[in-house]
Amino acid sequence: MEMLDYIRQRRAVRRYKDAVPEEGYIEKILEAGRWAPSGLNNQPWRFLVIKDKERKAAISKFTKYAKIIESAPVLVIVCMDVADSYNRDKDLMAIGACIQNILLEAHSLDMGACWLGEILNNKGRLSKYLGLDDDFEIMAVLAVGFSDEELTEGCRKPLMKLMIKADEN
Ligand SMILES: Cc1cc2nc3c(=O)[nH]c(=O)nc-3n(C[C@H](O)[C@H](O)[C@H](O)COP(=O)(O)O)c2cc1C
Repeated sequence: MEMLDYIRQRRAVRRYKDAVPEEGYIEKILEAGRWAPSGLNNQPWRFLVIKDKERKAAISKFTKYAKIIESAPVLVIVCMDVADSYNRDKDLMAIGACIQNILLEAHSLDMGACWLGEILNNKGRLSKYLGLDDDFEIMAVLAVGFSDEELTEGCRKPLMKLMIKADEN
C-alpha cells in the first residue's frame, strides 16, 4: 500500500478487542516513534508503557475519555524530557511527529490507536500518580490495541480551503 493510503486510512480508534498486542508490536510502534525527526536531532520523547488493568483504571479517572482508556489493552504515555529540551516549541513539534509515526505504524500493523490530549488537563495529577520525575512532562496518552470498530472514511477540509493566497506581486 502507498504511504498516502496509510495516512488517509488511519483513524482514531476508541473501542478495542481484549487481546493484548505482543511485546514485538509495541516495540515496533515505539521504534517508529524513535525514528521521528527532531530539531538538532534532540529526540526529546520518552515513553512509558502501561498494561496493568488496575493502573489503567486509575489513569482513566483523569479524563472524561475514561472508556477509551479502559477499553485499550495498552497505554503509551509520551513525555518530553524537559531537562534535555533545547527549544520548547521545536521539541513539542518533534513529539507531535513522533506520535504520528507511532499512530501510523500501529495502523500498518493492523492495530488501532487514539491520541488522547484531553487528559492533559490533569497532567500534574496524572504525573504524581505515575510517580514521574519532574524532568518528564506528559505530552499525550496513546490508547493502543486491536480495533473493535468499523474503519470509517474520516473527513478533512479540502486542500483548496487550506491554501493561503499569496500576494502575486
Ligand atoms: C493533539 C490531539 C489531541 C487529541 N485528544 C483526543 C482526546 O482527548 N480524546 C479523543 O477521543 N480523541 C482525541 N484526539 C483524536 C482526534 O479527535 C482525531 O484525531 C480527529 O477527530 C480526527 O479523526 P481521525 O484521527 O480518525 O482522522 C486527539 C488528537 C490530537 C492530534
